[in-house]
Formats: sequence, C-alpha cells, structure tokens
Amino acid sequence: MYDLGFLESGFLNAPIQKLSGTNPDFLSLELSIKREDLISSEVSGNKFRKLKYNLAKAKEEQHKTLLTYGGAFSNHIAATAKAGQLCGFKTIGVIRGEELGVDLEKTLRQNATLRFADKCNMQLYFVSRSHYKEKNKKSFREILKNKFQDFYEIPEGGTNELAVKGCAEILDEKTGAYDYIACPVGTGGTIAGIIEGSLPHQKILGFPALKGDFLEAEINKYTSKTNWQLITDYHFGGYAKVNQELVSFINLFKKKQSIPLDPIYTGKMLYGLYEMIRNGFFSKNTRILAVHTGGLQGIAGINDRLKKQGSKLIDYDG
Ligand SMILES: Cc1ncc(COP(=O)(O)O)c(C=O)c1O
Repeated sequence: MYDLGFLESGFLNAPIQKLSGTNPDFLSLELSIKREDLISSEVSGNKFRKLKYNLAKAKEEQHKTLLTYGGAFSNHIAATAKAGQLCGFKTIGVIRGEELGVDLEKTLRQNATLRFADKCNMQLYFVSRSHYKEKNKKSFREILKNKFQDFYEIPEGGTNELAVKGCAEILDEKTGAYDYIACPVGTGGTIAGIIEGSLPHQKILGFPALKGDFLEAEINKYTSKTNWQLITDYHFGGYAKVNQELVSFINLFKKKQSIPLDPIYTGKMLYGLYEMIRNGFFSKNTRILAVHTGGLQGIAGINDRLKKQGSKLIDYDG
C-alpha cells in the first residue's frame, strides 16, 4: 500500500546554479541558487523536505490518512495532497473559509490550488475562520477525530520537529563552501532546519514573507544556534502582498537567469538580496547561496488577482 520511493530519491534533483551577469555590483562576489524547486513541480522545495520524515513516521505508525491545515492558496495543502497520493495515503485538508465549501464546483473552478488538491483526491473540509483559529484546541481535535477517526496530523505550514530534521538536509557537503545561506521564511521551520544543518563559519539570512515579531521565538523553538538573522525589510506589506516593482523584478530575473521565482516567498528573498548586494551589505569575495524553496504553483492564484486589478502579470509557463 505505502510506497515512499519518491521521498527517498527526490532530493537528487536539486542542483546549485551560479547566477550570471555583468552588473558591477555582482562581480566581486558569488550569488548561487540551490534549485530545490526542481525536486518536483508538485511537491517542490521545502515541502518535500518537510514531509519526508513525517510521511515515514505516518507509515511506521501505520496511519492510512494524513490530515493537515491551510488557506485556499496554501502551497503546503497542494504538496501534501500530491505527496499523499504518490506515497499511498488518503489525505484530508482542513481549509480556512467556510464560504468556499458552499459551492464547491465554483470554488474549484476559480482556485487552482484547491482544484489541484481535489484532483489528487484530497478530501477538503471547509471551516469558518473563527473555527480555524481554534484548530490547536482539544475541542476542535475531538470534532476532527469523531469525523475522520484515525489520521496522522501535520500542522499548518508543515512545520514540526520532523520537518526541521528534513530541512536540515537542504545543506550538504556541496553547500559548505558558502559564507551566507539565504532562505524565505513563513512559519520558520525551513530556516530552523537550515540553521541546524549549517556549519559554524556560515551565516543564515531569513527573509520573512510576512510581518510579525513572533518568528524569532518560533525559530528558537527548534534550534539553539545563533548564526542567523532575519532581514525584515522585504515582506512588501505582508503575506501574499505584491506590487508592480516585485512583479517586474520576477519577470526580469526569469528573462535573464531562466529561473522562475514565486511572488510570495522566493521573489521577495531575491529582490532583497539584490538590493543588499547593491547597498554593500556583503563584503568582497563573499559566496552567497540562496535556497529556492519552490512555491511556483502559487503564481496562478496571484496572477488571477493581478488580472482582476488590470495589473501586469507574472510570466510563468509551468
Ligand atoms: C515556497 C515556500 N518557501 C518558503 C516557505 C517558508 O517556509 P517556513 O514556513 O518553513 O518558514 C514556504 C511556506 O511554507 C513556502 O511555501
């Protein structure tokens, strides 16, 4: 029934790519990207890393079903649906927004993430925003247990101890040569893993995709190392907020480097890194490795929004 082959070999496809360019700001240092997005177009980047040991544990404990949480545009929901399907688990997605369940066909027509999850046979369970906030309470768990009986629970965003263990594997013998490792931050699990996997001479820079002072404490829950820093100037107003400058940057980056970026996480990180390089944040001969954590499936949802506003769209052919 279970087949975890995908989780055991997917990481082989995450090469390091050196960025090219003749911009004088960039000539004195190296900026490379670890293409975790290439692990799989559907369970890409940090999602693969976060799910790997969780699915292994679910199998070990003989659960047949995975249950997790997310919003209507959640990369984590899409990835769990696909990973579950590939590895032989049933999946349940507890989705924020009761209104989305009223006319499911319409929702699926309009929302690429949920349509994808549904196609992977994920059972979608829509709950009100107020209920969703209670998801960590015992009473809410009881409701879920009564409704779905046995399941292996993965938290919203996929972050837990096992996810951090998986993300530590983003760094390996090839990444030891870099002075700085940069990654986007949502819930903090990915950076915590990268910090855990880092060497003493390396500094980890996290680029939060949202506003919030809670992140440092979240990260400290999973690591006691101190070789890291959050760069909080590049959230562009908050989670999933984008402006035309960011869209132009993402489109130009794709044209010049042939690497697609997503507007919620990796686009903001690279925009920030470029600005920091221009501003002289890094000294000469520094080697920087930015981790492409995937998230490209989120482009469709943002483009729908941009289209409605009559704004320029993100170029993406995936
Ligand atoms: C593509 C992508 N990159 C980065 C992150 C941030 O990861 P974390 O929530 O572990 O901080 C997420 C969110 O989970 C994501 O979907």
